[in-house]
Amino acid sequence: MRAFRLLQTVLGLAPLATANIASFTPSTTHPNLTYSVTVPDTTTQHNAGPIYLQIRAPRTLQWVALGQGSRMAGANILVVYTDASGTNLTLSPRLGRGHIEPQYTDLAHATLLPSSSVTDDTIEANIQCTNCLASWAAPSDTSYAPASTAAPFIWAYHTGRALNSSSVQETLTIHSEMGSTTLDLSHAQFSAAENNSTDLNPFALTSTQPPTPQTGNDTHPQTKTRAILIVHGTLMATAFLLGFPLFALPIPLGVKYNIATRHAPLQLFTLALVITGLGTGVYLATTVSTLKHAHPVIGLILVGVLVLFQPVAGYLQHRHWKREAAKSVFGYVHRWVGRGAIILGMVNGGLGFGLAGRGMGGVGSRNVPVAAVVVYSVVAGVVFVGYVVGVVWGKTKVFGRRGQGKGEGGERGMKGEGENGHREKI
Ligand SMILES: *[C@@H]1O[C@H](CO)[C@@H](O)[C@H](O)[C@H]1NC(C)=O
Ligand SMILES: *[C@@H]1O[C@H](CO)[C@@H](O)[C@H](O)[C@H]1NC(C)=O
Ligand SMILES: *[C@@H]1O[C@H](CO)[C@@H](O)[C@H](O)[C@H]1NC(C)=O
Ligand SMILES: *[C@@H]1O[C@H](CO)[C@@H](O)[C@H](O)[C@H]1NC(C)=O
Ligand SMILES: *[C@@H]1O[C@H](CO)[C@@H](O)[C@H](O)[C@H]1NC(C)=O
Ligand SMILES: *[C@@H]1O[C@H](CO)[C@@H](O)[C@H](O)[C@H]1NC(C)=O
Repeated sequence: MRAFRLLQTVLGLAPLATANIASFTPSTTHPNLTYSVTVPDTTTQHNAGPIYLQIRAPRTLQWVALGQGSRMAGANILVVYTDASGTNLTLSPRLGRGHIEPQYTDLAHATLLPSSSVTDDTIEANIQCTNCLASWAAPSDTSYAPASTAAPFIWAYHTGRALNSSSVQETLTIHSEMGSTTLDLSHAQFSAAENNSTDLNPFALTSTQPPTPQTGNDTHPQTKTRAILIVHGTLMATAFLLGFPLFALPIPLGVKYNIATRHAPLQLFTLALVITGLGTGVYLATTVSTLKHAHPVIGLILVGVLVLFQPVAGYLQHRHWKREAAKSVFGYVHRWVGRGAIILGMVNGGLGFGLAGRGMGGVGSRNVPVAAVVVYSVVAGVVFVGYVVGVVWGKTKVFGRRGQGKGEGGERGMKGEGENGHREKI
């Protein structure tokens, strides 16, 4: 192709009036949402100049965005919505600031081409950006190669009533759906013959041969995101619905259970699951989701408290028990922080389904199956009731035994525990 163009240039022939366009249709909910990118070969040759982006979306979307970058932080984001007349478009270039609403920036040189349109069912924004080969963030080393075979892009939209705003600083509601992909821009070059006139609409340059639409590799990042979402949910649900409550329950139940060799390692293992789960959660929040939601906020605080207080309080109570054979304030802290964390964790899992539902296609979609929500709720309910019943039953059992001087602890060689006829309770 290059050689062919070179030949054309050498022979002084007219440039091939066609554009190779990289486009992708990321949303299964909105199959008519299409993003396209194409780069003039002159931009590639000079590593400077304009690139062209197109956003086509159904009118049912309130705002639609395409960003350069693999995550929101630092990304060049082009947001499009209907203007005050409702018959034209507003282009709002924004700089991704991480997990919060991207902020309008006047550093972007991006313009809507006159070929952009608003019809009854579709909005089409054709955008020329003359400084999209680098991040708009003031001190930034991030640059975007014009012929990268894996140029990173993020996309997002929000469904709802038309914004009808001509303000480029309009407040945006958080995305209904968001994702990332890479595009092969080496196959999205067109011969512009130095034509950077704003009359040029490369997306309409289909006269001699049809554009070769190239589906972005969106399936791969979405599969990865989905896999990470599943890992996150599985780890956290295993920890808060099963691990923490079930590895704690033998203590109030009063069955033989060595604190130092069973309870502590099992709960530390569960805590390790939670910390791994937190890592996956932070990844999701910073790439496809948001930290501006109760679920990640509660999750971060919860895991922080668990890591900071539970092992230490448990250890101090264990030490106190060995010396005094009595319950200390650490025991109460450990018990109630633990129980509170289990309940909060169970509730937060429910909030997580809501958040995943919002960002990943909704509860009932492939990413958030109804069955998962039902199984989660049933298990959480059963374990919660089982735990409460176990605690009450354990208490009556202990009261029933008080004064009988049983030394169960020693029978199975649990040293340092049960010497006074009580089991160690933390
Ligand atoms: C997508 O666009 C086509 C043609 O414009 C239209 O017939 C179809 O109903 C649209 N699909 C959705 C889901 O909006
Ligand atoms: C936006 O403008 C269009 C065209 O004027 C109008 O039909 C629509 O009702 C407006 N929507 C809102 C939410 O104001
Ligand atoms: C729509 O907006 C573009 C860019 O601001 C402007 O050039 C064009 O005249 C507008 N069209 C209408 C019908 O208002
Ligand atoms: C258009 O291209 C010419 C030379 O090719 C350049 O001098 C000019 O700055 C360009 N204009 C824009 C808006 O990029
Ligand atoms: C640039 O492209 C526009 C639209 O295709 C065309 O009308 C115009 O004549 C071109 N200008 C040059 C200098 O080729
Ligand atoms: C897209 O993904 C497939 C399979 O993962 C891979 O073979 C192909 O090279 C990728 N294409 C691009 C343009 O990254």
